[in-house]
Amino acid sequence: MYKAKAYSVSSAASPFASTTIPRRDPTEHDVQIEILFCGICHSDLHQARNEWSNVMPTVYPCVPGHEIVGRVTRTGSAVKKFKPGDLAAVGCMVDSDGTCPECRAGFEQFCPNFVLTYNFPDKHLGGVTYGGYSDSIVVHERFVLRVPANLDLAGAAPLLCAGITTYSPMRHWGVTKGKKAGVVGLGGLGHMGVKFAHALGAHVVVFTTSAGKKDDALRLGADEVVISKNAGEMNKHAGSFDFILDAVAAPHDINAYINLLGRDGNLTMVGAPEQPLPVAVFGLIMRRRSFSGSLIGGIAETQEMLDFCGKHNITSDVEVIPIQKVNEAYDRLVKSDVKYRFSIDMASLKSE
Ligand SMILES: NC(=O)c1ccc[n+]([C@@H]2O[C@H](COP(=O)([O-])OP(=O)(O)OC[C@H]3O[C@@H](n4cnc5c(N)ncnc54)[C@H](OP(=O)(O)O)[C@@H]3O)[C@@H](O)[C@H]2O)c1
Ligand SMILES: [Zn+2]
Ligand SMILES: [Zn+2]
Repeated sequence: MYKAKAYSVSSAASPFASTTIPRRDPTEHDVQIEILFCGICHSDLHQARNEWSNVMPTVYPCVPGHEIVGRVTRTGSAVKKFKPGDLAAVGCMVDSDGTCPECRAGFEQFCPNFVLTYNFPDKHLGGVTYGGYSDSIVVHERFVLRVPANLDLAGAAPLLCAGITTYSPMRHWGVTKGKKAGVVGLGGLGHMGVKFAHALGAHVVVFTTSAGKKDDALRLGADEVVISKNAGEMNKHAGSFDFILDAVAAPHDINAYINLLGRDGNLTMVGAPEQPLPVAVFGLIMRRRSFSGSLIGGIAETQEMLDFCGKHNITSDVEVIPIQKVNEAYDRLVKSDVKYRFSIDMASLKSE
């Protein structure tokens, strides 16, 4: 065991502060990674502030962070895929049983025994797992991903959650050329959704509450932008979508979007407000529409997404910050004031 530098919160109401956390020495299948960049996902904020207390209550101290890129520093004796000096990435999961039907089918995210990157029971050291707001992490090689060499690392970090969470449902629901795809909420997830839908060839419509994001949406790959508070603009698209991805982190009216779907159209929620969202059933039965959810993606699909990004030169639009600005960044994230993901430069942790 060794000590790593990190930033943690000690309660739902307290700010982040510098700390040290225990990390295990790499065992035979482990990869030790020096973390270079870690994205700030809205899930980190939900978790740090215990906003999901009914679903996954936060254990304090909590070190969030599941959009991790870095460089391999040490590997266990059985590790074949990585060697010291390689670029490596870690997303939302650090382990699973590897044997259940979900794991065998490549859906580790649905494994009943998966281990999330933070705030999950740590079977090696006891306590809970600690995430990427840290200078290093040790992860089983099965959960370590390769980063295409052409990608900017600060912008690649958010691919590990925001990227796979938007890529996976778009692939599942067949977003491709000739389809009309909507993206609701132009935040960290949403802006990646726009880039993927565009790269997959769909006609992309962004729904935003922020009129000031219109030009950015078009630059990111949207063909049209709708200000969702404007009922007239919304109605123009009634019954016309094949697929809509909803990436909003707060309660909002999803029926307004269900009504925009055409026959057999699908609305997938990836945004995760804790409160139930009322669904008007008539909206679903009228055109055999469906309403579903999606959780990140499996490891093989995450690698596929990273390779797709390498090929199409896709990264997240990031505002790089030192770790010392993490509290300010959280306050801005609540106000949707980030273009479009914060990425923490972990070199800033060296001065702590
Ligand atoms: N399912 C999964 O696997 C998964 C993975 C990662 C994250 N998540 C969840 O996805 C959600 C989004 O995460 P994120 O990191 O992309 O967050 P984010 O960067 O804060 O983006 C959320 C966007 O939602 C819109 N929005 C915020 N408040 C709103 C409101 N009251 N009404 C309507 N729109 C609102 C804003 O876009 P506009 O300004 O354009 O309106 C905002 O930029 C979070 O709940 C997060 O926990 C889920
Ligand atoms: Zn996330
Ligand atoms: Zn499993």
